[in-house]
Amino acid sequence: KKERTLALIKPDVVTKIGDVLELIHSSNLLVTKAKMTALTGKQAADFYVEHQSKPFFNNLVQFVSSGPVVALELMGDEAVSIWRRLLGPTDSSAARKEAPRSVRAQFGTDAVKNVGHGSDSLAAAARELEFFFPSTVGHGPPNTA
Ligand code: CMP
Repeated sequence: KKERTLALIKPDVVTKIGDVLELIHSSNLLVTKAKMTALTGKQAADFYVEHQSKPFFNNLVQFVSSGPVVALELMGDEAVSIWRRLLGPTDSSAARKEAPRSVRAQFGTDAVKNVGHGSDSLAAAARELEFFFPSTVGHGPPNTA
């Protein structure tokens, strides 16, 4: 089934985005939107609100707002699960043992500097895509510049 998902490339690997794109391309996913941006602490906290009670929340928010990130909309068959499988286990060290060809195994450092995020469900994908690529319909006049 054709799906859309959000891939967030975190500050640790923004300079290696080409390598990540190569793996995305090899997995038959299309990049249908892309944006480089920087999140404020508040924006990062909003994005990760489901984790706000976790012990690592402050670390996570601090790291994700520490530099530029690249948000990608990926599209393809089973895009949600394919991208998460491509990322590999959350902790990059575990990824090196359990999924040595995964993105986190190859480019990640630990559980915080772990290359990227992927939506974990279609509902999460819808929310997270809207976060980075808000639909502009009904939100004011079109940009006529
Ligand atoms: P992500 O896919 O972005 O979604 C939640 C994030 O929380 C996860 O990747 C990790 O970066 C982070 N995370 C999960 N578990 C831990 C942990 N034990 N220590 C630090 N960060 C964690």
